[in-house]
Amino acid sequence: MLDKFNPQLNSNGELTHLLSLENLPKEILFQILDTAKSFIEISNRQIKKVPLLRGKSVFNLFFENSTRTRTTFEIAAKRLSADVLNLDIGRSSTSKGETLLDTIDNLCAMHANLFVVRHASSGAPYLIVQHLQQTGRNDIHVVNAGDGRHAHPTQGLLDMYAIRHFKTQQNSDFANLKVAIVGDILHSRVARSDIHALKTLGVTEINAIGPETLLPKYLQEMGVNVFHNMEQGIKDCDVVIMLRLQNERMNGALLPSANEYFRHFGLTPQKLALAKPDAIVMHPGPMNRGIEIHSEVADGNQAVILNQVTFGIAVRMAVMSIVAGN
Ligand code: CP
Repeated sequence: MLDKFNPQLNSNGELTHLLSLENLPKEILFQILDTAKSFIEISNRQIKKVPLLRGKSVFNLFFENSTRTRTTFEIAAKRLSADVLNLDIGRSSTSKGETLLDTIDNLCAMHANLFVVRHASSGAPYLIVQHLQQTGRNDIHVVNAGDGRHAHPTQGLLDMYAIRHFKTQQNSDFANLKVAIVGDILHSRVARSDIHALKTLGVTEINAIGPETLLPKYLQEMGVNVFHNMEQGIKDCDVVIMLRLQNERMNGALLPSANEYFRHFGLTPQKLALAKPDAIVMHPGPMNRGIEIHSEVADGNQAVILNQVTFGIAVRMAVMSIVAGN
């Protein structure tokens, strides 16, 4: 039985699917981050496997392209000893007109235990959860790997893991951090998930920076400060999260040119110098060098972009073991 108001929790308040970080209780966020920390240690061992998903089948369903998320989910599931199947969507019967829910029914008939779903449509993972519930398959779990502009919860979690790792000594330190999120927030599921998690963890100063056309109206309602001037927005920040321009989700021209964008909102060494001297630079990837970020910054000693990728394995192990572990 799922919680009526938060369908990713069961009636005992335990995580059973991961759909979004919005309204996810702080205790569950810390449960995931703490569990991930224990898996970092396993990743440093010679034998990197634990039996938490032994005998379970994880199906990776990526209806949109991915490098980091798909691969790290696969590594994570294998480290938990699951059987992992990567459905090749391009060669699947989706191209012959099979619906998403018919595909799910067929994979359930193959004894799937957990679906990892990336989809261009916001709400697709939620639709699958609803369908599983309506058909009485409450023992099958769904993890959202990015749906449209809506949410990318495991990216949000690995971002919180990186911030906790590099910028805090104790959990209450989140309240003292000043975080900048720069770029195409309008189309970014990562930004939404980051903002929800930062708020829950107690961050009070979140600066959203970008051109008016790429900043959604709801930011101020969420208690986020809005800046159209990067120099002002980045000043004294502890964390700078750069975002990719989501050209595939833009309808019409929202920007004069890539050069113009880089001049105003690209992260250069000069602009980064306005943040705190020990500020970290994050990017969910894929990066567009010379458009969002200067190579000197992307490869510089303040960047933790590749650490984010490594943390993603432990965080995805944590999520899958919590929702579906033996
Ligand atoms: N950050 C992220 O979602 O990257 P991929 O699209 O490569 O998975």
